[in-house]
Amino acid sequence: SVSREDSMEKIANILKDPKSKVLFFVGAGISATSDGEPLIPDFRSPGTGLFYNLAKLDLPTPESVFDIDFFSENPQPFYSLCKDLHPTLVKFPPTRFHYFMKLTNDHNQLIRIFSQNIDTLERATGLDSDKIIEAHGSFAEEFCIECDEKAQKEHFEKQLLADEIPKCEHCEGILKPGIVFYGEQLPDRFHECSDTDLTDDVDLCIFAGTSLNVYPFAGLASDVSDNTLRVLINRERAGDFMYNPRKSDILLLEDCDKIVDEIAELCGWKDELDKLVDQ
Ligand code: OAD
Repeated sequence: SVSREDSMEKIANILKDPKSKVLFFVGAGISATSDGEPLIPDFRSPGTGLFYNLAKLDLPTPESVFDIDFFSENPQPFYSLCKDLHPTLVKFPPTRFHYFMKLTNDHNQLIRIFSQNIDTLERATGLDSDKIIEAHGSFAEEFCIECDEKAQKEHFEKQLLADEIPKCEHCEGILKPGIVFYGEQLPDRFHECSDTDLTDDVDLCIFAGTSLNVYPFAGLASDVSDNTLRVLINRERAGDFMYNPRKSDILLLEDCDKIVDEIAELCGWKDELDKLVDQ
C-alpha cells in the first residue's frame, strides 16, 4: 500500500497545478476542532457527539431533535440544542480546514463545497455563496412551519434571546430555522450541482469530517468518477470508502485541521493559510 508521505505528496502535487479542479464534501468533523482544541461538537462521535448528549431531553431517538413531525409537536428539545449551536447565541470562527478550502478557491481550483453543516462557517471565510452548497440548509433564515412565511430576523432573535419558542408574527405558527430536517427535501441546488459538478475532468474530491451516514449526501461518494482521486480525511473510515473502496482511494484517518496544515506546507501555501486564519 501507499505510504502516508506518498499520499500527502500526491494530493499536494494536484494542488500545485493551477489547472486542477477540486471538490469538497464535508460534515461536522471539520468544525469539531480548531488548532487541536474542541470547537463545535459533531453528532455521532462516541461520548462527545450531540446525539450522545441528548438523553436529558427525553427524546424517542436522538435524531428526533431534527425530525419535522416531532418538531411540530414539541419544538423545545430543538430549541434547547440551539442554545449551544445557534449563531445568534454562540459565535464560532472558521477553522484552518475552512480556510484551506477558501485557499483552493483563491488558487482558482475550487469547483464547489458540498457541506452538511448548518454552522455557516464556509460563508464566514468570505467565500462566494455560489461555491457553497448548504445541503442541509443553515441557521441563516427562519420560516413559519404553518404559513411558510420568512421571519423577520429581529423578531426571531428577540424570542430566541428571551428563551421562548419563536412564533410567527402572522399566524403564531412555530418558527423553524432553514435547516433540512429528517422528512424534508434537500435544496434543489444540491441536486442540480451534484449532477453537473461530478464530471470526469475533476482531479480531486476531498471528503472530510463526515461519517457518511446520512443520504442522499453520503451517496455522492459513489458518484465520483473513476478518473478522479478520492480522498477521505476523517478520524474513522466511512461510507463508500469502507463499503466500496477503490484501489486509488487515499485515507487519512486523522484530524482534518492538522492534515490540511501539512498539505498546505507541501504546496508552499503555509504563509497564505496562516494569513487567512489570522486575518
Ligand atoms: P457525524 O457526527 O455523523 O460525523 C462526523 C465525523 O467526523 C465522524 O466520523 C468523526 O470521526 C469525524 N471527526 C470528528 N472530529 C474530527 C476532526 N477533528 N477531524 C477529522 N474527523 C473528525 O457528522 P455528519 O457526518 O456531518 O443533520 O452528520 C451528517 C448529518 O447528520 C448532519 O448534517 C446532521 C445530522 O443529522 C442536520 O443537521 C440536519
